[in-house]
Amino acid sequence: MSSQTERIRRMTVPQLAARKGGEPIVSLTSYHAHTAAIVDKYADFILVGDSLGMVMHGMETTVGVPLDLMIMHGKAVVRGTKRALIVVDMPFGTYEESPNIAFRNAAKIMKETGCGAVKIEGGARMAETVHFLVERGIPVMAHTGLTPQSSHVMGGFKTQGRDEDTWKAHEDDAKAVAEAGAFALVLEGMVEPLAAKITKQVDIPTIGIGASVECDGQILVLEDMLGLNEWTPKFVKVYGDLGPQIEKAVSAYAEDVKARAFPTEDEVYR
Ligand code: KIV
Repeated sequence: MSSQTERIRRMTVPQLAARKGGEPIVSLTSYHAHTAAIVDKYADFILVGDSLGMVMHGMETTVGVPLDLMIMHGKAVVRGTKRALIVVDMPFGTYEESPNIAFRNAAKIMKETGCGAVKIEGGARMAETVHFLVERGIPVMAHTGLTPQSSHVMGGFKTQGRDEDTWKAHEDDAKAVAEAGAFALVLEGMVEPLAAKITKQVDIPTIGIGASVECDGQILVLEDMLGLNEWTPKFVKVYGDLGPQIEKAVSAYAEDVKARAFPTEDEVYR
């Protein structure tokens, strides 16, 4: 079936999965149409992460993020993009209870946003749900290691795998979601050799964030790498200084308003 509008060719889930061991996968988070349009030129996939609760909405953790908020931002990112695969996070409380509930909410996200996949946190304990969703047509990106939605159980945002005795559980988590059918796996906040080891053990691409350069790809929170947040995790390489630049622009604007130094009427609509 053809459409009169320009055909949009987005990265597909199988194309992304096929990048295992190949050219590193580039990904970033984005929550709005305008930033997503820029990221879209360079990223293989864009994650509408539930980190938006903390980054955009000032929440202390991601636990309070509602499903409707993810859908609203998901729609904006899909509208602003045309090439990257868009993955939307399932927020806390929308998938853990049962595979049926997970399916209902994942289907709602996919139908209402037009995204290509969802991401859920958790390893072996979520394997049954991953399988259930994938069997029913919902591509799932898994997320293990530091899982922010469990930060209350973990006692904060702590790097995982510092104690080698815990490695086997992390390895088992990764293998369980890969075997259940996840097409990719985010490894967050994990000691480097463990993330590298898991990357060799699973046959799906691993996407590192504060994990290892050996991962099959990397993801960062866009606002962190742009220097927009006052605080960023230690592992983040900051590529911009948007925070100070915005402040400079806002203070120049405030000065202009006070000095009545605004364009004359005939210059207003350029
Ligand atoms: O919510 C998010 O932004 C994420 C990334 C940090 C992987 O899950």
